[in-house]
Amino acid sequence: MTDTNINLEDKANFSSPLGARDLYDFDEIIDRHNTGAVKIERCKALYGTDDVLPLWVADMDFRTPDFIIEAIRERCEHPILGYSMPPKEFYPTVIEWISEHHQWNIDRQWIGFLPGIVPGLSFSVQSLTSPGDEVIVQPPVYYPFFHVIKNNNRVLVNNPLKTVNGKFEMDFEDLEQKITSKTKLFILCSPHNPGGKVWNAESLKRLAEICSKHNITVVSDEIHADMVLEGYKHIPFATVSEEAAKISLTFMAPSKTFNMPGLISSSYIITNKEIRTKFVDFLESSELTGGNIFAYAATVAAFEKGNDWRKQMLEYVQGNIDFVVDFLKTNIPQITPMIPEASFLVWLNCQELGMETDDLFDFFAQKAGLGLNKGTIFGPGGEYHLRLNVACPRSILQKAMKQLKDAVTAP
Ligand SMILES: Cc1ncc(COP(=O)(O)O)c(C=O)c1O
Repeated sequence: MTDTNINLEDKANFSSPLGARDLYDFDEIIDRHNTGAVKIERCKALYGTDDVLPLWVADMDFRTPDFIIEAIRERCEHPILGYSMPPKEFYPTVIEWISEHHQWNIDRQWIGFLPGIVPGLSFSVQSLTSPGDEVIVQPPVYYPFFHVIKNNNRVLVNNPLKTVNGKFEMDFEDLEQKITSKTKLFILCSPHNPGGKVWNAESLKRLAEICSKHNITVVSDEIHADMVLEGYKHIPFATVSEEAAKISLTFMAPSKTFNMPGLISSSYIITNKEIRTKFVDFLESSELTGGNIFAYAATVAAFEKGNDWRKQMLEYVQGNIDFVVDFLKTNIPQITPMIPEASFLVWLNCQELGMETDDLFDFFAQKAGLGLNKGTIFGPGGEYHLRLNVACPRSILQKAMKQLKDAVTAP
């Protein structure tokens, strides 16, 4: 392993069940061609060329951890892949992980299987609101939030985030002004994508107070919860106050953290019986309650065996973030990254490069050979921005930064 910021002695001290030799190699370059990877397959359509370093879709270019592949392989040892229930350890394992990592003690009846968080967002819009109702989001935000509202004929209402000292903050004054008698749902991104913001208890409590006062249900998308970086702590929305628990649905998943989003495995947690009944009735009437046998096996393996891998992965990601931040500061000071507090996405403010957003996107693709997400797909506030995924081997990121520097400094 080269140039990571992980001290080898510290690594040897990880209490891995497989022993101290179990060091993971995040420097390994893995060819994802011919695997159907969205990150590769959609380059031509998006960037006009296949010849870009793809640093966009939010999955990792790291090997999916061995204990997950092993769990799937083990399940394949049985010759029948028939209709299956979740294994008996499935819910206890998920519940224990959430209790240990997020200090949230979940009753078994509050939690259930969800076939993907984005689908879950759409199910909540469909089950908890009616056509014409208003749903609030906080852009710039993960763009499928807009789709699940608009495609279900609900009215999208933006409560844009403010940038204060280089970090996102919620704008509660604007929120209160935007609420009407038609506002029924608020979709929260916590931690926030694309800003990597870990919301503090004060902001979440204030949000709960406002939404509770106006009878607005909050769907809290917490898919990035297990990727909080050193110095920060994820607080599940439902735990900040009694009213937050009463008005919310929480979605969590091991998929992003353990690089297995192609398996589709997530959970809903809903403490309020009335909301849970409406949501679960929708899932049941649409026959959406079951997962696949590999998702179940991988989830159990991730939560039972994954903590050391997760820690090593986050240290490597932090090293990648530090590398990009330092590189930009020294070589391309016109680009200002928002320093993430969670996850592996870096929100780049490129306004000082002096290009409109579309031109910026084309410049990155065609002149620098880099495929990033265009800021404006994340809604208002995304102008002049691009989102960079740093969950890749450091050598790829080094190459990417060099290409960017060459393009920016070219005569
Ligand atoms: C905030 C957020 N929610 C949901 C998802 C995707 O969830 P799923 O693959 O379970 O639909 C992503 C993926 O990037 C995300 O960033």
